[in-house]
Amino acid sequence: MVNTKVSLSGLMLDNPVIPASGTFGYGYEFAELYDINLLGSFSFKGTTAAPRFGNPTPRIAECPSGMINSVGLQNPGIDAVIQRELPRLKKCFHKPVIANISGFSVEEYVHCCQKIDREAQVGLIEVNVSCPNVHNGGMSFGTTPESAAEVTRAVKAVTTKPVYIKLSPNVTDIAAIARACEEAGADGISLINTLLGMRIDLRTRKPVIANKMGGFSGSAIFPVALRMVYQVYEAVSIPIIGMGGVSSARDAIEMMLAGATAVQVGAANLVNPYACRDIIESLPREMEQLGISSLTEIIGGAH
Ligand SMILES: Cc1cc2nc3c(=O)[nH]c(=O)nc-3n(C[C@H](O)[C@H](O)[C@H](O)COP(=O)(O)O)c2cc1C
Repeated sequence: MVNTKVSLSGLMLDNPVIPASGTFGYGYEFAELYDINLLGSFSFKGTTAAPRFGNPTPRIAECPSGMINSVGLQNPGIDAVIQRELPRLKKCFHKPVIANISGFSVEEYVHCCQKIDREAQVGLIEVNVSCPNVHNGGMSFGTTPESAAEVTRAVKAVTTKPVYIKLSPNVTDIAAIARACEEAGADGISLINTLLGMRIDLRTRKPVIANKMGGFSGSAIFPVALRMVYQVYEAVSIPIIGMGGVSSARDAIEMMLAGATAVQVGAANLVNPYACRDIIESLPREMEQLGISSLTEIIGGAH
């Protein structure tokens, strides 16, 4: 029997496979398809202080081996998540959930994280710093070490649960940003969010996505994500949740060898809603074939 258990800052997971934020809603929709209790955990839809209707459509473009989305953080707002979504989830998911929080100001991150920290089912808070900073020229919080650290410090001051900062790959030096988050008190790092991309419709000669550009993800970005996880592992000593193009048990193992303690699966869920279940079911067989008896032993093994 192989051991698939991993620990994220004391949070024990039966396996390292976690559906990524924005591709699994608030979970209960998927519970109609299979028993979601077999997941390590899952990261719920990026949640903001106020409800958001998201960006204009079209907001999805298909690409070879991936997709571009410009959903624009559509969500019902933090209060509705606490009053409506989490109680529904509790009926079908009996493990700690990862709360993914977004904000357009430091105050918004603080407000949402403080509220979600009080929820019993939340095991870990994942703070997405890819959003534009409305008070500072619209540059994403995740694009400078200073602003990423500022959000980290502010959120850590009002929370008791592990805080993982989710980084954007659209930067020159991801390791410097990860290091700044660690120094500001982050308990872990999640990476990567989507890469900025676009497509043009050859008939209309206009961008496919209404907002012109969007976030590119799916198996095409796996080598980029793997490279960034590898670099961040060398830069920090806190745990890493690796994601970006993971679509098989072998991808998950490769991501862990690069330095991830757990992995998230995003776009693959939209192609195959059973993707995470399939990865979890094939993980023990792949481990046996590769001579891995315990997953914790391989974390960072490629270094
Ligand atoms: C449709 C869609 C919506 C997403 N929404 C969010 C979100 O709300 N918050 C967030 O942190 N990441 C969001 N992401 C990014 C994913 O969580 C993940 O970081 C990224 O897609 C890379 O993983 P993948 O290649 O497996 O999709 C979204 C991705 C997709 C495809």
